Amino acid sequence: MLLLVVCALLGYLLGSIPFGLVLTRMAGLGDIRQIGSGNIGATNVLRTGNKPLALATLLLDSGKGAIAALLAFLWAGPAFLGLEAAVLAAGGAMLGHSFPVWLGFKGGKGVATALGVLLAVCWPVGLLACLTWVVMAALFRISSLSALTALGLSPLTGWYFGGPLVAGLCLFIAVLVFIRHEANIRRLLKGEEPRIGAAKKAAS
Ligand code: G3P
Repeated sequence: MLLLVVCALLGYLLGSIPFGLVLTRMAGLGDIRQIGSGNIGATNVLRTGNKPLALATLLLDSGKGAIAALLAFLWAGPAFLGLEAAVLAAGGAMLGHSFPVWLGFKGGKGVATALGVLLAVCWPVGLLACLTWVVMAALFRISSLSALTALGLSPLTGWYFGGPLVAGLCLFIAVLVFIRHEANIRRLLKGEEPRIGAAKKAAS
C-alpha cells in the first residue's frame, strides 16, 4: 500500500516539472504564461515560433509521464503490483503537470503527458491516441480538438486493450483533460479556436 502511495507521489513530482516554462525561459523567450493561450504546453511554445523548443517540450512532457509509469512498474515488480503502481504513477504525473506545486497549482492541460503515460501503461492505447491526434490535426489543424478527440476516445480503447484498470486511468485522464480545456471548448463552440502554429498575441 505504501509502495503505491510513494509511486503516486513520485509520479506527481516528475509530472510537476514545467518543461515548457523552463525551456522558454532558458531560450530567453520570457514567460510562456504571458504568450498565446498562456498554457505551458508544446502547442503554446510553438506560438513563440521556435519549433525545436516546441518539439523538445512535447518530448519532455510526454517523457516525464512515460518514465514515471515505467519506473513505478519496474519498482513494484511486473508480476506483483506493477500495473497498479504504473497507473497510480501515471495519475500522479497527470495531476503534477496540471497542478504543479511550484507554479501555485496552475499548470498545463496534460495532453503530451497523457500520451506519454498511455504509451507506457498500455502502448496500443497510447499509439491509437497519438494516431487519432495526428489524423485530427491533419484534418482540422486545431490542437485542442485533436487532443479532446484522442483522449476522449481513450476509455473505450483502454477497456478493449487493457481492461478495467487501464480504462479507469483513461477515464480519469479524459475528464481531467476536458476540464483543463474548458476555455478551448468555449472557443471551439464559437469557432474562435486558433489553428496550429497561428500566433496569438495575448494570453487568454
Ligand atoms: O495540448 C494543449 C492543447 O490541446 C491546447 O493548447 O495552447 O491551444 O490552449 P492551447
